[in-house]
Amino acid sequence: MTDHPIAFLDLKAQQKRLGPGLRARIEAVLAHCQFILGPEVGELETRLAQFCGAAQCVAVSSGTDALQIALMAEGIGPGDAVFLPAFTYTATAEVVLVLGATPVFVDIDARSFQIDPAAFEARIKTVQAAGKLRPRALIGVDLFGQPADWPRLAAIAARHDLFTLDDCAQSFGARLAGTRLGRAAMATAISFFPSKPLGGYGDGGALFTESAERAELYRSLRSHGEGTTRYEVLRTGMNGRLDTLQAAVLLTKLDHFPAEIAARARLADLYDRALAGIVETPARVPASDSVWAVYAVLFADGARREAAQAALRAAGIASAIYYPKPLHHQPAYRAHHDGAALPVAEDVARRILALPIHPDLSDDDVARVAATLRAAIVPRAG
Ligand SMILES: Cc1ncc(COP(=O)(O)O)c(C=O)c1O
Repeated sequence: MTDHPIAFLDLKAQQKRLGPGLRARIEAVLAHCQFILGPEVGELETRLAQFCGAAQCVAVSSGTDALQIALMAEGIGPGDAVFLPAFTYTATAEVVLVLGATPVFVDIDARSFQIDPAAFEARIKTVQAAGKLRPRALIGVDLFGQPADWPRLAAIAARHDLFTLDDCAQSFGARLAGTRLGRAAMATAISFFPSKPLGGYGDGGALFTESAERAELYRSLRSHGEGTTRYEVLRTGMNGRLDTLQAAVLLTKLDHFPAEIAARARLADLYDRALAGIVETPARVPASDSVWAVYAVLFADGARREAAQAALRAAGIASAIYYPKPLHHQPAYRAHHDGAALPVAEDVARRILALPIHPDLSDDDVARVAATLRAAIVPRAG
């Protein structure tokens, strides 16, 4: 076993693997100079929609902006309750507050880390009983590369007449019951942040929907609310476009994406076997294929996680805690939380640790991570 540092993500190795195709795509944009909404943006939208089977795709400036645009299009604002998991990246809750609506945090499932559908329905009832906010929308998050339980979430949302938005920032490419995410909710938002499974070389995102009307609104909102001409302003929008250079990079990345998903899945299986009996390895969401944005394990307690992370650091192995605090404990959100107990999210935050997983990681690297964890966690005999 070698002892080189093991990074969380190796974008230099990735660039090398992508080869000259990447530079040719970038050169083409430099040649035509249509840096804003150039032809690569439309080409990417068509290919992304084909990839996940969605009717409409609108490329935007980030995953966060994708979420915000989707909520703006529904007119969500003050007095509206938007349900979302307490265990997610800040962007999921941030957009709700930026629009003046109220986030209602929902607990997660202890094994899959995904939003718990039963807890979601219970939270709708609490909000209805309190009578202060109007239940308007669910932002379900497909966490760590796996899908949330969309069939159950969508059925609950339909019973309560809620708009459903899939925050698929981490999980584009994942399948649920054989179908790629992109149509599980009324709108789906994805992110091209460089560390995402389909990451660009800068910020970017996209929205999917089956509704032509929604897609038209998204296009208007991403360009300052413009109408049929550039200087007709129909509504308050934002500057939320994906730039052409990012689209060019992503078109190359998309060619390699299925192979990268397969490589991540193979590494996850390898980790599962190497870590059995050492830590709690990630549970698979039934009937799904993960894209393994994150491979997160659970330790018996916070002290063991701390010891493991220190041992990894000493061995030059990167690791990360997603997420050290559930959102309702973050200073920015505490005051907006209604005080409901969310024990699973709190417990998972204390014990979880993400290990390196990316298509350029070697089998030897996985073995080294596992050996380091074993030495840190399992007491030596004798
Ligand atoms: C769950 C989740 N939602 C939203 C986002 C926001 O995406 P972006 O960074 O592209 O704005 C991210 C990632 O960064 C994320 O992980």
